[in-house]
Amino acid sequence: MSDPEIVIMGAPGAGKGTQSDHIAEEFDVDHVSTGDAFRANKDMDISDLGLEYDTPAGFMDAGELVPDEVVNEILRAALEDADGYVLDGYPRNLAQVEYLDSVADPDVVLYLEVDEDVLTERLTGRRVCSECGATYHVDFDPPEEEGVCDVCGGDLYQREDDQPDTVKERIRVYRDETAPVVDHYDDTGLLVRVDGEGTPDEVWADLRAAIEDALEG
Ligand code: AP5
Ligand code: MG
Ligand code: ZN
Repeated sequence: MSDPEIVIMGAPGAGKGTQSDHIAEEFDVDHVSTGDAFRANKDMDISDLGLEYDTPAGFMDAGELVPDEVVNEILRAALEDADGYVLDGYPRNLAQVEYLDSVADPDVVLYLEVDEDVLTERLTGRRVCSECGATYHVDFDPPEEEGVCDVCGGDLYQREDDQPDTVKERIRVYRDETAPVVDHYDDTGLLVRVDGEGTPDEVWADLRAAIEDALEG
């Protein structure tokens, strides 16, 4: 069997990053996250493109999408190097769907369904390790020692775009631009919906079963 090609979708805070780590380990694929790629290159100079902001951080901190011409190139380079993938955070609009079709052929598109009130709570309480990227939540998944990563002892920080006003804008952008992508994959038959509101372990059990089904089918 060729390496699995998996896309995971869901609103901001739905649990894509949390679950992608499990998927990457279990199915031996690379976790490709456009959000993580931008956070690692947030001050990249894109001023020559004449866009609204001169860096990815400008768009991200405003809760807006980074323009397609920037994200598509990052996506292409990441997939070129991957042996199988779980793609987290792309595609986010219909133009990106078209671009993805030209460079890859996913086996399944997973969609984590989570209610909007739950999303805000998850995002505003999220903490991330500055060293290894492990994700925590102050109430739902706290580290043993406040502010310190269980895995590597690194300092935990709050993402710039997890402030309440930015969260609101990210959810609006999701509704306007990314929800049509979910409908598109529903129409093409690739979409598998998974309830994202259980505990992380419950969600993972459902997700794993859904992936196994899809890859066999
Ligand atoms: P990105 O990093 O992709 O952010 P996002 O899509 O908004 O999603 P998040 O990472 O916030 O949430 P998640 O679903 O990964 O949830 P997590 O597992 O962390 O993108 C950031 C920005 O980059 C965008 O706004 C845009 O500017 C730019 N960008 C990225 N891709 C782009 C693209 N393709 N085009 C243009 N621009 C792009 O979980 C959240 C919290 O909940 C955590 O605290 C976690 O511990 C907790 N949690 C997880 N699961 C559960 C559970 N089951 N129960 C309780 N708590 C849980
Ligand atoms: Mg994420
Ligand atoms: Zn860490």
